[in-house]
Amino acid sequence: MVLRTALAGSSGLITLGVNYSQMHDSSACLVRDGELLFAVAEERLSRVKHDARFPELAIQACLDFAKIGSREVDEVCFGWQQAGKLYRRDLALLATGRWPITYNNALNSTRSFLSMWHQESGAAPFRRTFGPRDMQFRYVDHHLAHAISAYSYSGFDDAAVVVMDGRGAWEATSLWHGRDGRLKHLLTINWPDSLGLFYATFTEYLGFTPNADEWKVMGLAPYGQPGVDLREFIAAGGDPYRVRVGNLVGRNGMSRKLIEKLGPKRVPESEIDDRHKNIAFAVQDICEDAMTSVVRLALEKSKSRNLCMAGGVALNSKANGKIAASGLIDKLFVQPAASDDGVALGAALAPYMDKDGRLPMKPMRHAYLGPAFDDAAIRAALETYKLHYNELSDPAAIAAKLLADGKILGWFQGRMEFGPRALGSRSILADPRDPEMNAKVNNAVKFREWWRPFAPSFKKEAAPDYLESAYDSPFMILTAQVRPEKRSVIPSVTHVDGSARPQTVEREINPLYYRLIEEFEKRTGVPVVMNTSFNLRGEAIVHTPTDAIRTFFSSGMDALIIGSFVVEK
Ligand SMILES: [Fe+2]
Repeated sequence: MVLRTALAGSSGLITLGVNYSQMHDSSACLVRDGELLFAVAEERLSRVKHDARFPELAIQACLDFAKIGSREVDEVCFGWQQAGKLYRRDLALLATGRWPITYNNALNSTRSFLSMWHQESGAAPFRRTFGPRDMQFRYVDHHLAHAISAYSYSGFDDAAVVVMDGRGAWEATSLWHGRDGRLKHLLTINWPDSLGLFYATFTEYLGFTPNADEWKVMGLAPYGQPGVDLREFIAAGGDPYRVRVGNLVGRNGMSRKLIEKLGPKRVPESEIDDRHKNIAFAVQDICEDAMTSVVRLALEKSKSRNLCMAGGVALNSKANGKIAASGLIDKLFVQPAASDDGVALGAALAPYMDKDGRLPMKPMRHAYLGPAFDDAAIRAALETYKLHYNELSDPAAIAAKLLADGKILGWFQGRMEFGPRALGSRSILADPRDPEMNAKVNNAVKFREWWRPFAPSFKKEAAPDYLESAYDSPFMILTAQVRPEKRSVIPSVTHVDGSARPQTVEREINPLYYRLIEEFEKRTGVPVVMNTSFNLRGEAIVHTPTDAIRTFFSSGMDALIIGSFVVEK
């Protein structure tokens, strides 16, 4: 049975945050008295990656966790404006020529508007599925929801807040100043002048899926050389940036100018050559410049040295690492579900601003916000599939032994992570000391592109011994340079440019995972394990014991440690 926390009978305000735009990453979360209790993306439950449908399963999971019915929810808060506002903006852009007037653009915009209008921007499917006709609904401006999600969960009293994404209703980048629990809007750069659009266009150009595979471009970038000039497509490093939309986007998607200048698009799954690598390098490089300019401006305008970020562009861990190491800021918080799944977190807090504009300020110290399964549920699944398994008195110690012996492990424990990263609940683990391990895990388990790096999980105290900039990184959302003398110690988690995307693990936050790393250190002298998400290429991270078992047997993993049990091949 699923582990639950009793909430029934609570007298505090209970809000449901929802992301639903029909675009990507639908999600829901539950907040009581300003405390984030539970959050999950629809994709984990439906098994449809980046699922954009109404998050019926995620909402039900929130209610199940709290053991409440929908009647006990005070307000349902969507992280988007109502459909009409978005459509009016689109029409204005088409009318003024700032977005190419084509049959497809007009049709897509109208179709999306009509569908959302028909669904009352999410209220209709909610009522249809969950009942109450008198439910209170709220539609929070998309960038405000992102901004709340960045500031309120940072725990910083005073901070510059930066939101950068593909697009909101009309926004692309917005700057805010958070102080004493209140958010003040400073500046908005409107869509389509969008860093997300810029990066997504090149993601597609390089043969990947836009708004999903930006990681792949970022991972490929360090293999390239400088030399490709993208200034025709974006002016970066100034005011704070300007995307030259007319040069980037044409009447049928990508502009002819882009193809003329850089050559043909890469065919998906075809070979990657030096030209592709060099373009990836240039895209990442100029995006880093633009992001740094945005941050600089936000710090200037807010006169703060703390920074909070959200929005899909804020998942650019390489750029985040540069910003962290730039000396511009003292403290950094990037909300771990920075993409649109995370607007649910911000939207759910919006009602708290009604009274005096003040948000609850409860720092997010971990992302273990999803469902969990107890040993009884896990044992039942193992027996259903008639698997041979052993019960363990000390799963962390056995895991460490298997890792030190070179085994690749599935590690399924506790509550599932919210956000794109696996942080030791739904992880595949391996030995970072083996220079071949990257290739082994790639070939046997992840079946993914050769150039994508794997990440290390460090004992928090040990991270400064290995990394040049010792920023806390509980959410694997910024990169750091591995000290030159340590690169050969953990070669399989050190990228070609000497960087790594670390997770720093704290004993108090995740004692079991911490102990696994500690046990590994006792055996090997290295307080680091390789950690990648527990899923196969193209699939969502596993949610249930059944998902974990199926993934385990569909891959080259050697052992699965699931709750208190181990299954070996
Ligand atoms: Fe967004």
